[in-house]
Parts: sequence; structure tokens; C-alpha cells
Amino acid sequence: DGTPGDHTMDESTVEGFVDPQGSRVTDAEAARNPGAVREFSLTAAPRDIDLGGVIARTWSYGDTIPGAALRVARGEQVKAVITNNLPNPTTIHWHGLALRCDMDGTPGVSQKPIESGADFTYQFTAPHAGTYWFHPHVGTQQDRGLYAPLIVDDPDEPLEYDEEWTVVLDDWMDGVTGTPDDVLKELSGGMGHGDMGHGDMDEPMAMGHMLMGATSDLLGGDAGDVAYPHFLVNGRVPADPDVLNAEPGTRVRIRIINAAGDTAFRVALAGHTMTVVHTDGFPIEPVETDALLLGMGERYDVIVELDDGVFGFVALAEGKNALGRALVRTGSGEPAKPDARPDELDRRVLAYSDLVPDPSVAFTPGEPDRVVDVELTGGMAEYDWGINGRRYDPNVLSGIEEGERVRLRFINNTTMWHPMHLHGHTFALADSGVRKDTAIVLPGSTLEVDFDADNPGRWMVHCHNVYHSESGMMTLIGYR
Ligand code: C2O
Ligand code: CU
Repeated sequence: DGTPGDHTMDESTVEGFVDPQGSRVTDAEAARNPGAVREFSLTAAPRDIDLGGVIARTWSYGDTIPGAALRVARGEQVKAVITNNLPNPTTIHWHGLALRCDMDGTPGVSQKPIESGADFTYQFTAPHAGTYWFHPHVGTQQDRGLYAPLIVDDPDEPLEYDEEWTVVLDDWMDGVTGTPDDVLKELSGGMGHGDMGHGDMDEPMAMGHMLMGATSDLLGGDAGDVAYPHFLVNGRVPADPDVLNAEPGTRVRIRIINAAGDTAFRVALAGHTMTVVHTDGFPIEPVETDALLLGMGERYDVIVELDDGVFGFVALAEGKNALGRALVRTGSGEPAKPDARPDELDRRVLAYSDLVPDPSVAFTPGEPDRVVDVELTGGMAEYDWGINGRRYDPNVLSGIEEGERVRLRFINNTTMWHPMHLHGHTFALADSGVRKDTAIVLPGSTLEVDFDADNPGRWMVHCHNVYHSESGMMTLIGYR
């Protein structure tokens, strides 16, 4: 009961909704004028990974965490062959891309999971430039280290910069104090479902560390469900960080991705302000800030002009009183101590209300044709996270029609914040038009987002806290 492999395509085909394997999906893909094919191969496997003096026996896409970035130009096709050398079935979800539905990687919805020992070829057009990433959509596998950036270049890039870095944030547990699956099981009182029961059961489990209940400064409500021993920036612990080298005066574009399972990060570059230029891959009017808050799944691109010296790129685990960091080195000097908290973290933090969309991606304003209420429900006590009062069920969909402007109303009736993510589309925050695919919904508040229904299929809407989604805070939107 409960493993992703139990849901086959047949069981989850629902009368009256677009079939992800059907002609409406292939027709939509053909209309994107698929360009040159760029080939990649990935092997998901158990490996020993060096996190900077901490060796983790875990699952990854390569010898490092994050896995190597995949890179294509807008309009080109990603062709990625994934070999599954994990002991469990897996899939890849291409987070944020408006791609063909049958390549979306949602087990039991868009594809059958890839069995252990098997391979699968994902091939799809990347229709929009931007900073994306990918991870499995099976259980809590993402939280073991199965994640990597996917960068889609704009052939007509209007931004000017000298250099580009990608910085990926993560909260780290696996191989240190127990597996994510064990943790989910514990949180759910042993009743959870998903990718359970296949972890390294000889790992020492340290469950007493969970349920911290600390209060977050910016987000309110509970800080998180899990206390992690390490916070990683580009796969390294703070004591032995990733070092990003450049000349002083370099204008660098930094693509920041929060790949964590259960942690929002507040980030700052010591001694610098950042000019934010993209949210979840889509351009905004450039806006300067000292610090940025990223929920799980969110991305921001910033431009920074580098001073001379050694600077911490620091990620504060929001509400958890712990830091991750990388170092930026443009000159001589000693780095600050691993636990140094730069002043910038406590100055201006960018808010959604500070953002203005770039005119090239702004929605033409208009009343929605349909409003879909997505009420976030449940709580920590029973660990019964859900949407509209029920746990995820692949046979329950909210119907929409192609061509509609759809409003999702995320109504958060819980005491915790949730980063809500829509597959296959980039929505617009209803009050500003800022384009995103993942947005934080604060405790006790409502966030409205609009999207144009232009990508037929069956698409997930879920919390990007991997423990919340796996315990049930997921639902489906289906095109009729
Ligand atoms: Cu990155 Cu369905 O998620
Ligand atoms: Cu959540």
C-alpha cells in the first residue's frame, strides 16, 4: 500500500480530462516549434558525497550535490536519459518549466515511475528562458540530494554581466541522522505514505531532533518540521565552503535556487547590495535589496558588482538560527568565521510587494474566467497536511478549460507558511502581475495568483515542503 508504483496510468485515468499521453499534449508541444536537441545523461544512484569534511552516503545524480547543471537555449529541446540505479522507482520533475505534460515527471499522473534498474528518456522543448531546476517527484527523494539546476539561456539576453554563478541552497540530513523517509514516517506517526520503507535502515535514527517549534522572524508560525544538522550552499558545509573566484569590479549574475526540503533561506552577500532581476526565471524591473527570502522551490537571479576582498554569501535558515555559506573571493584577506552573520541579513529584505514585472512578461489585466479555491489545511499535531481538507488523491481533479484565465486562491488556514507551486505554468501574483511558479503563503493569509490555461494536461498544485506534500498537501488541476 502506498508506494508510488501502485498507481498505474490506467488506474488514474479520469474520464473527461486531458490524457497526458494523448494528442492534445503532443499538439501543444508541436506548436512550440521544437528546436535543436541537446542530449544529456543522468544516473541516479547511491553514492558517497563529500560535503566539505562531512561524508554522506546518499542518493545523487553525480559525484557532487547539486548535480551538474543542464543548459539549453530557449526553444531548444532537452533530451535527458535517466538511468535509475536507485533501489526505488523514481521520476524527474522539471520545476517551473511550461513543458509538455507527459514529460512532467509526476508518477501516476503523467508517467509510470521509472523502476529500479530501468531508464527513461525525457524530451521536451524549453519554451522560456530562466533559472529552473529538477528533482524527483517520488516520495522524499529530493531531500536526499537528488537535485540540479536547469538553465535556459535567452538568445536575446538583455542583461549585461561579466560572469555567472549558480548558488543552490539545501538543508542536509540524509546520511547524517537518518533518511528523509524515516523522518516522514516519524512525523506521520508511522502512517505516512510515499517513498517509505526503503531507506538505509541501518542508519542511526535521531528523531528527537524534530519538531523544534521555533518561531521565524519573517514568516511567522512554525519554523519547520525537521531540524537539520547542516545547511549547504552548493553542497558544502560552512566550515569548508564552495569558493567563487572573480576579479574585483566584476558584474556577476547569481542564480539562486532553494532546493531545500523544509527550509526557507534568507540570503545576503556580505558587504554588497544585490539587484534582483528575475523571480522564478521571469524578468522583473531591477530592484535593489540587502537580503532576499527564498521558500523551497523559489529562485531569484541577482546582479552584483563585486568589491575587492573575501565575502560570505550567507544563507540564514529562517527561524532555525543556523547558517550556510559560500565564499566570494576577489582579492586577499581572511574569510569571516563560519558562523559570522553579515549585517545585510538584518537590513532590507525584499518582499513580493517590492516587485514589478518586466513589461515583456506582464499579464494583460483581466478578471479571471474561473476561480479555484485551494485551501491549505491540517497541522503538525496529526501531521495531516492536506488541500481542501483531504489528502492527495490522483483521482480528484479541479477541472479547467483551455483558453481560460484561472485564478488560484491559496487560503492558508494553518499556523504554518507554505511555498505553493503550480506545475506546467508560470502564474502571476494577482495584485502585481509578477510572474512566479512558487510563492510563499503566510499563516492565516490568502494569496491569489492567475494563470492562462494554455498548456493542456493534468498538473500538480502542491506545497514545496517535501514533508507536507508527501503527507498529502498536493492536488491536481485538469484540463477538460
Ligand atoms: Cu519542484 Cu511538484 O515540484
Ligand atoms: Cu506546506
